[in-house]
Amino acid sequence: QVPKLDEVVKMCRDKGFAAASAGGYGGARGCYDYLPLGAELKRKVQQRWWREFVEKRMGVHGVETPILTLPRVLEAAGHVEHFGDPLISCAGCGAPLRADAGGACTGCGKKKQPAGASDAATMFNLLFETAAGAGEAKRSMYLRPETAQGMFTSLNETVRALRIAQLPFGVASMGKAFRNEISPREFLFRVREFEQGEVEWFVARDEADAAFHEWLNFSHQWLVRLLNHPHQLLRVEHHDAGSLAHYARATADIEFKYPFGWGELWGVADRGQHDVQAHAAATGDKVPALLDDAVVIEPSVGFDRLVFALLVDAMAVREGSDDAERSVLRLDPAIAPVTATVLPLVAKDEELVKHAKVLATGLSTVIGSVSYEASGSVGKRYRRADSIGVPFCVTVDAQSLNDQTYTLRFRDTMLQERVDVNDLVARISEATR
Ligand code: GAP
Repeated sequence: QVPKLDEVVKMCRDKGFAAASAGGYGGARGCYDYLPLGAELKRKVQQRWWREFVEKRMGVHGVETPILTLPRVLEAAGHVEHFGDPLISCAGCGAPLRADAGGACTGCGKKKQPAGASDAATMFNLLFETAAGAGEAKRSMYLRPETAQGMFTSLNETVRALRIAQLPFGVASMGKAFRNEISPREFLFRVREFEQGEVEWFVARDEADAAFHEWLNFSHQWLVRLLNHPHQLLRVEHHDAGSLAHYARATADIEFKYPFGWGELWGVADRGQHDVQAHAAATGDKVPALLDDAVVIEPSVGFDRLVFALLVDAMAVREGSDDAERSVLRLDPAIAPVTATVLPLVAKDEELVKHAKVLATGLSTVIGSVSYEASGSVGKRYRRADSIGVPFCVTVDAQSLNDQTYTLRFRDTMLQERVDVNDLVARISEATR
């Protein structure tokens, strides 16, 4: 049921979702370009996350903070000391490997490290270091490894400016994070530059467990709504004490069944008072009174892993077909990169073409993401639309010129209906809400 990794990679490249970055130069490891369809898919997913986790959540306030981070911030938060992965060398070729990573070495293909290799592992820090400023004023900086720290270091300003006086409340942010992964692999799953969506939810200590489960459920439910196969492809795993990050009191991961196996898609952590106390101690700033008793619950999703998961889930081949062109991408209409394709039935008929172009332009102002497609037979055009996940095709024929009705074709059922323009807009709007 789960497509193979090379099938997903090929589909993404062929259809214009994602490809290795700077491929002409041999590719930058752990960096991918989102091509037009992938960029649009990711943007829509992020927009929806922001709507559900920030705009529609009472008490959650969105902020945006810099990627460039002062070393002192990450020293105080513990990342400079603790944010690492165990590093070993491949027994076959000497390539650097994560000791806890399964699978074959990407250098020589040798299956596994020698037994006992992880005993000899050293900790490799994943922070990316850079420098800012010129000459004497040049200072070392880090690229943030999580969006979270900017929310903690700006917290006192947020609480003061918004006059927040009661628990619970939250701050949220969405943006790039960077980790110098030892062996970036498995396509969009483990990359060096990625995007996170995080909420830091401040709650009274005695309500922490309830809040933890509430955010875990809320995040899980949001995924269930977006996926076709949530029960086969999602599971929740709770960490034991030995596998917690340095800042966490408890963590649960929502895992997705990727082509290479189960992998963390979304983490929900109880960060306790770690960050607030650490920054107060390092800066000498007073912790606002309402935070004295507060702990932090943090749902954190990586959008690259989410886009990857959505594409794997959506890849399905129409039954009874062995033609690669008949593949269909069952993306939820709300996040499909192209919402509707308008096609003139006969591509050489000037009147149909003119009408179809006007319709496409008009529809795009109401429902957005509309394409116009005139090359190839109508059947071919439908199949191409299916293969990139377009949920609706709208065909303009001779009758349309007289009565402004159109054939609306549904990707998943392949059923067609004759509808007028109001109906068309209503049906598509309903499905993409
Ligand atoms: N603030 C908490 C935090 O950063 P994390 O479990 O290290 O926790 C959260 O990361 C999410 O970020 C993960 O669940 C994953 O989706 C994403 N993520 C982490 N490292 C990643 C990488 N190298 N490539 C892609 N996504 C990554």
